[in-house]
Amino acid sequence: MIDWERLAKELAEAVAADVNLEAPWREAITRTPRHHFVPRFWDLDQNNNPTELVDGAHPDHRERWLTACYRNQVLITQWHGQRGRRIITSSASMPSLVAQMLQTLDVHDGNRVLEIGTGTGYNTALLCNRLGHAAVASVDIDPLLAAEAQQRLNRLGYQPVVEASDGANGLPSAAPYDRILSTCSAATVPAAWIDQLTDGGLIVAPLTYGGALAVLRKTALGEVSGHLAAEQAYFMPLHAAGEPMPNGFVPDLPQLSEIGASHEATTAIPLKLWNNPDWRLWLALHLPHGHIADLVNEHMDRTGAIVYTADRRAQVDYAAAEPGRWPVTQDRDRLWDTVEAAWQSWTRFDEPDRTRIGITARSDGQQWVWIDEPDQPVPVHRER
Ligand SMILES: C[S@@+](CC[C@H](N)C(=O)[O-])C[C@H]1O[C@@H](n2cnc3c(N)ncnc32)[C@H](O)[C@@H]1O
Repeated sequence: MIDWERLAKELAEAVAADVNLEAPWREAITRTPRHHFVPRFWDLDQNNNPTELVDGAHPDHRERWLTACYRNQVLITQWHGQRGRRIITSSASMPSLVAQMLQTLDVHDGNRVLEIGTGTGYNTALLCNRLGHAAVASVDIDPLLAAEAQQRLNRLGYQPVVEASDGANGLPSAAPYDRILSTCSAATVPAAWIDQLTDGGLIVAPLTYGGALAVLRKTALGEVSGHLAAEQAYFMPLHAAGEPMPNGFVPDLPQLSEIGASHEATTAIPLKLWNNPDWRLWLALHLPHGHIADLVNEHMDRTGAIVYTADRRAQVDYAAAEPGRWPVTQDRDRLWDTVEAAWQSWTRFDEPDRTRIGITARSDGQQWVWIDEPDQPVPVHRER
């Protein structure tokens, strides 16, 4: 017999040390057996590559497995091999981040909630505990994950709607929703979420690879608007069925030789800026389909930054250059122009921390970034 109640109580305490946890969510964590939703997980090596399967059914693994299930840590539950790499495709998110997002969702009794990214079903169970299962719907792109999560939920007596389909379409069969919570990140806010939200309803969703957590209220027909939360929320991307990892989200880094004649320029963007997660987020909002990688030396010190999309690349190299005139190499479409434009507005707005940033999205596909108030749009020089 597993004494999970004691462990779950300890987990709730550990989460409460990190997050100013409201009583109903503390209660939900205390009453939800996380090990039931994570029967096995993958250990990671120091490069975050999944290595060993830790299986709760294996007597030699049991103690390690159970301890990990009730630690405040993310547990990797699925990966796919792709082009020689192991790409993580599902996980039980870190409980303190889960709790923070649930609190940010600001649910009230009687609210109907849609979760995007059922994964293990743990978060769905927390929602069922808080609101009652009849108020909860959840969708995952992966049919196996959705089926397993549904069985686990059913075994605890919860019968929420769980469907295997693309969460970018919301879940029309159980709409409308007062709250939509995404546990995978979207490049931009899908129109279906806006349409399936009740007036005054709230979306809490990670956006872009920059770790933005958007808190968006439906303020008008076909429109949501709101600020980013203070938390960094890095989540795996929303991807289409049959594609374990979208080509466009973390594309293979195009080689400089592949992108054609390179355009040389210089930049005054300082090296230290690339340490700042708020700058990286700001840039990500300008390049929602792009990605940032670091150039490092043999000591793993950062020596440059690479900004890229599936077929474009620009990079700055800080090694051995005159300060303030660091060399940039880029494709002939000049992807770096977007980086410079982002840096200009970043400076003009006094290096805004993420909570000053706002997003308005419309169901006709328009989306824009603003600073402090919706009437202060940031001119975003988007990538083509
Ligand atoms: C971080 S995991 C979710 C964690 C989950 N909420 C839990 O408590 O275990 C992200 C999930 O998003 C799912 N996902 C990715 N793209 C999706 C899409 N287009 N629609 C719905 N789910 C998607 C993945 O299959 C994965 O299970």
